[in-house]
Amino acid sequence: MYNSKITGLGYYVPDNVVTNDALSELMDTDDEWIQERTGIKERRHVVRGEDTTTTMGVKAAKIAIERAGINKDDIDFIVFATLSPDYYFPGPGVLVQRDLGLKTVGAVDIRNQCSGFVYAVSLADQYIKSGMYKNILVIGSELHSGGLDMTTRGRGVSVIFGDGAGAAILSREEDNSKGILSTHLHSEGQHAEELSLIAPGMGKRWVTDIIEDNDPDDESYFPYMNGQFVFKNAVVRFSEVIMEGLGANNLKPEDIDLLVPHQANLRISQFIQRKFRLGDDQVYNNIMKYGNTTAASIPIALTEAWEEGKVKEGDLVVLAAFGSGFTWGSVIIRW
Ligand code: COA
Repeated sequence: MYNSKITGLGYYVPDNVVTNDALSELMDTDDEWIQERTGIKERRHVVRGEDTTTTMGVKAAKIAIERAGINKDDIDFIVFATLSPDYYFPGPGVLVQRDLGLKTVGAVDIRNQCSGFVYAVSLADQYIKSGMYKNILVIGSELHSGGLDMTTRGRGVSVIFGDGAGAAILSREEDNSKGILSTHLHSEGQHAEELSLIAPGMGKRWVTDIIEDNDPDDESYFPYMNGQFVFKNAVVRFSEVIMEGLGANNLKPEDIDLLVPHQANLRISQFIQRKFRLGDDQVYNNIMKYGNTTAASIPIALTEAWEEGKVKEGDLVVLAAFGSGFTWGSVIIRW
């Protein structure tokens, strides 16, 4: 049995900054409301035609590959997490294989929304632990802005989400005391519709329904979120899954050097920070600048933290996420 370790990190966000004031020109909202409830000051939106979920992922991946000090031909497998793929099918993993000019390695797409990166890391970690692969490219990328309701009707959701991508290279680590110590994953489909995008699908709203109805009031192809219900579940599940991960490794909250939570809402991160009595330098947040970038949020935040020198060799780094599904999970890393 091997461990896996993160040997390279990269992120890419579009240049186009969208402030809260800019959103208030499109819908009935304001900077004070958004900052007070979410902590978000601005987010990035792609300029249509300049970027897609895949191209952002590829840009982040190139940086991660270079920092890992490997050649692209050393990559054995691709794992791509997103809820906003370029195409309904095929998924973006194969587009990365094509656009990076990789060998015909396997590519898998992960559909676990805000927990997507944690699920992707967990999957990659198992392939490395088993000895099957040595270097895996893991990407989380989202293009939300093309699918949000930018009118007052959609304001409860649209102000929160932003575009961007993050990537990591997971490589074989022979020292079992280092690297990814464990991953912990959960789901509770009972609440699937509480944070969801129902159409297009082959369930309640078929593609043919949407075309036939051509109804401008049809909200089923915009994301829906029961905000308060999501918030209440998030704070409980974040706490549980962090404790589960620490407990599995005989560790305690005070052992954490850096917690990188999925950037769902600054108020959720602050709640977790208080609950575990962590200092400001033990929790990394950047939602203020990028909003919630779903599967991209943890790799973007982890990359920034690493670039700022906040992740050092020997540190205990904890990743944790909660989101649509509901799904949630944690990753415990000895850096
Ligand atoms: N600007 C101004 N007002 C808004 C608004 C906006 N962008 N969005 C909603 N409102 C209004 C609502 O219409 C409502 O008005 P009403 O009282 O007249 O009906 C009022 O603000 C309160 O809405 P509510 O949904 O109860 O607000 P809230 O305090 O729960 O905050 C969220 C909303 C979305 C910020 C909050 O619930 C949240 O962060 N939830 C978790 C979201 C999350 O983390 N999602 C990602 C999970 S991965």
